[in-house]
Amino acid sequence: METGTAATARRNDLEALWMPFTANRHFKANPRLLTDAAGMYFTSHDGRRILDGIAGLWCVNAGHTHPKIAAAIAAQARTLDYAPPFQMGHPLAFEYAARLTEILPDGLDHVFFANSGSEAVDTALKIALAYHQVRGEGRRTRLIGRERGYHGVGFGGISVGGIANNRKAFGLGLPGVDHLPHTHDLAHNAFSRGQPAWGAHLADELERLLALHGAETIAAVIVEPVAGSTGVLIPPKGYLERLRALCDQHGILLIFDEVITGFGRLGAAFAAEYFGVRPDLLTCAKGMTNGAVPMGGVAVRREIYDAFMQGPEIAIELFHGYTYSGHPLAAAAALATLDVYRDEGLFERAAALAPYWQEAVHSLNGVPHVIDVRNLGLVAGIELAPIPGQPTRRAFDVFLACYEQGVLIRTTGDIIALSPPLIIDKPEIDRLIDTIASALKGGAR
Ligand SMILES: Cc1ncc(COP(=O)(O)O)c(C=O)c1O
Repeated sequence: METGTAATARRNDLEALWMPFTANRHFKANPRLLTDAAGMYFTSHDGRRILDGIAGLWCVNAGHTHPKIAAAIAAQARTLDYAPPFQMGHPLAFEYAARLTEILPDGLDHVFFANSGSEAVDTALKIALAYHQVRGEGRRTRLIGRERGYHGVGFGGISVGGIANNRKAFGLGLPGVDHLPHTHDLAHNAFSRGQPAWGAHLADELERLLALHGAETIAAVIVEPVAGSTGVLIPPKGYLERLRALCDQHGILLIFDEVITGFGRLGAAFAAEYFGVRPDLLTCAKGMTNGAVPMGGVAVRREIYDAFMQGPEIAIELFHGYTYSGHPLAAAAALATLDVYRDEGLFERAAALAPYWQEAVHSLNGVPHVIDVRNLGLVAGIELAPIPGQPTRRAFDVFLACYEQGVLIRTTGDIIALSPPLIIDKPEIDRLIDTIASALKGGAR
């Protein structure tokens, strides 16, 4: 690393970096830099320990800098740094794909690798469209997403996604996309514990879209089983089952975007297992490598893979892939991460902690400005009444106040979204929730 005054000055100059999904000017005036991490804690540039209430960004499920994952990455970097994934392969990518299928829902037994959730989503949408085409159903070109859905930031993802700010500056998006209504309704579901009782009928809105466009023109429906980035929306009881039944009835593929629900977040390997609803395609990323190396993937049913395996044997079956699909460092990290999840029983741990978590987060009911609390597994959303005329300000103030107290939370709009590493213990849960409560009672206007 460079040393000396010029190097230090350069390092302290925050200007050159255009930060993602960040209020750049506010941040650069009040920087919050994280320099180290271990287990449940970050260390900040000013030397404070910060309790991680959000697993980095829904990804560090086994806690930070896990020694086994770090060792696997380091060893791999010395052995095979890179191998081209087109017309070539390396053993770890195959091994990881096979291992992953062991914990995927039954029948999802082929995996395509990408490098992020956004790439996984675009890959899944492309596979869905191409699948219908190879089977001679090329009229199925429409995609159905859902209002308030978040599927990353690629053009496919923002088109099927339903978060207005992520779409409106970026042109027209994919043609032929429509959206189901979201399932959020405080009048019916405020302060639900676990899955809300009201709202399964909203899945039937799919029938309206099928009537409008013609069911035979729809390729796929994509939803997050639990919507995360929009501020945690838990699916009403029976909702996902109804979507599944309607897709089956009309030959439409159902895609679950499990980028945040995968790898134990709900106390099961995947949300599909938790809810007992099997999608045709399933996207994942984040917890795949415990956040340590970028990686994403799409799992598909055998019939989907098989449909492509036809024609001359030397023909490429799918014209899609990334330079870093199944990158050796990512595959090594992912294999070590699976071992850690298994050896430390982290999915079971999340399931066992979920009732305590539920009680803890619902203790915020009655705290000033809290208009809803919702939870499932080790996820919670805490919705706040906005400051009149200043949307997002209330939650952002709470975020800043918590950070001052050494606790990292995440906010989206006026909603606090919590998703701690699955290694969190009960006193840390208490501290997380107490810090939010005192921020709301004290500082928040
Ligand atoms: C459900 C879902 N899909 C896709 C993504 C995009 O993932 P990435 O930021 O890795 O591209 C996210 C990220 O939060 C997500 O929550």
